[in-house]
Amino acid sequence: MSTTVIILAAGKGTRMRSQLPKVLQPLAGQPLLGHVVETAKQLKARRIITIFGHGGAHVQNAFKEENIEWVEQKEQLGTGHAVQMTLPVLPTDGFSLILYGDVPLVSSETLNKLLEASQKTGIGMITLNVDEPTGYGRIVRSHGQIQAIVEHKDASEEQRQITEINTGIYCVENSKLHEWLPQLSNENAQGEYYLTDIVAMAVQDGLEIASIQPKLAYEVEGVNDRIQLANLERAFQRQQAIHLMREGVAFADPERFDLRGTLTTGQDVYIDINVIIEGHCEIGSNVEIGAGTILKDAKIASNTKIQPYTIIDNAVVGEKVIIGPFARLRPGTQLDNDVHIGNFVEVKNSHLEKGVKANHFTYLGDAEVGTESNIGAGTITCNYDGVNKHKTKIGSSAFIGSNSSLVAPISIGKGATVGAGSVITRDVPENTLAFERSQQIEKANYQRPQKTK
Ligand code: UD1
Ligand code: MG
Repeated sequence: MSTTVIILAAGKGTRMRSQLPKVLQPLAGQPLLGHVVETAKQLKARRIITIFGHGGAHVQNAFKEENIEWVEQKEQLGTGHAVQMTLPVLPTDGFSLILYGDVPLVSSETLNKLLEASQKTGIGMITLNVDEPTGYGRIVRSHGQIQAIVEHKDASEEQRQITEINTGIYCVENSKLHEWLPQLSNENAQGEYYLTDIVAMAVQDGLEIASIQPKLAYEVEGVNDRIQLANLERAFQRQQAIHLMREGVAFADPERFDLRGTLTTGQDVYIDINVIIEGHCEIGSNVEIGAGTILKDAKIASNTKIQPYTIIDNAVVGEKVIIGPFARLRPGTQLDNDVHIGNFVEVKNSHLEKGVKANHFTYLGDAEVGTESNIGAGTITCNYDGVNKHKTKIGSSAFIGSNSSLVAPISIGKGATVGAGSVITRDVPENTLAFERSQQIEKANYQRPQKTK
């Protein structure tokens, strides 16, 4: 099927009170417009035409990787005027879905339903029954059939009683858009070219207007200010948590969880409060995620325990690993099974093989650590000489004493032991003890200085 998606995104968003154009405000970590573009891609839209106005270059730049056609609406003369701007590039065959850059959460399921309903009649729309319809366009029906949309400001007292509202989302045959849009007039209460007027035109042409309602009300909610944005964020997060609970995730509190991206999980995953998941993360079964933990583009295998306030970014973690509390895994980290990473340990671009333990205050950067090695408290890999980064290699079953500095490039052989407090600058052979300390000086019966009066 050849569907064009038209996205209206020319509005100023004054009420956001922000330097950032409204459609670039983030919801669940992604710009509002990004959600709509993502949905258009899920629908396999043949073209995505976005109407921009305010903050144009900024908006275009944020989506330069996407296959979007941009059409400018210099002056915002109404929703009908906005869609008129697409006519020079709009195909004459197929259908268009008309969406909004500030209505981010409409789902592909709902839009597919709309597409299907509209195929039969040539035009369809999404409506919603609400308790408080003030401000919205009202759906005027006669004998059940949609006759017109009347804007709140143009509506009679009687029409204002109607609680079925226009969401603004339509699916229309392109040939009809070419026919109807040039006929719009701005003789109405707001002096705008209303897109809604195409509905009355369709009725005049003897067409029936198909209509559907969304599965979830928030799908058709727009964002005009930060309060609506925050409400929509919470509604979306709640929905994501519900979805994850259905997959077998237990939450200490689903209201205190944020997924800003995608997450796949096994069963019996326990997520404590205030956990943030970003990018694309994968978590196996029987994994515990402690309070305040942040995972970004992380892959965590089964039976692993992540203790509170741990940050994991672009790392791969094996099974039965224990991490944290207060640990930080930076990009390029790979922890094999049974590794233990304790508090205030930072690991970057390093591979720790099975059973390695680094339990306290350590920095491992650009390192390879062999199986079952023990990295003592306060060990630092000195990987940076001020200009270049160098590698540290530690063989299996090595023991690095506390507070040691391993000055890279360096290699510690398997089974080697480094004495506490050493600054190691030369390679250490296998099964060898190396330490580097000045001699201990002792002064017997030493008197500490007295405070001067
Ligand atoms: C519109 C509908 C109304 C519906 C409501 C749902 C019309 C005439 N009315 O009203 O029936 O109930 O949406 O929220 O369509 N925009 C442009 N260029 C313009 C004008 C608007 O790009 O010249 C964009 C805005 O950025 C916004 C969207 O279109 O994303 C809707 O515009 P807005 O003025 O908020 O429409 P409403 O008056 O609320
Ligand atoms: Mg308006």
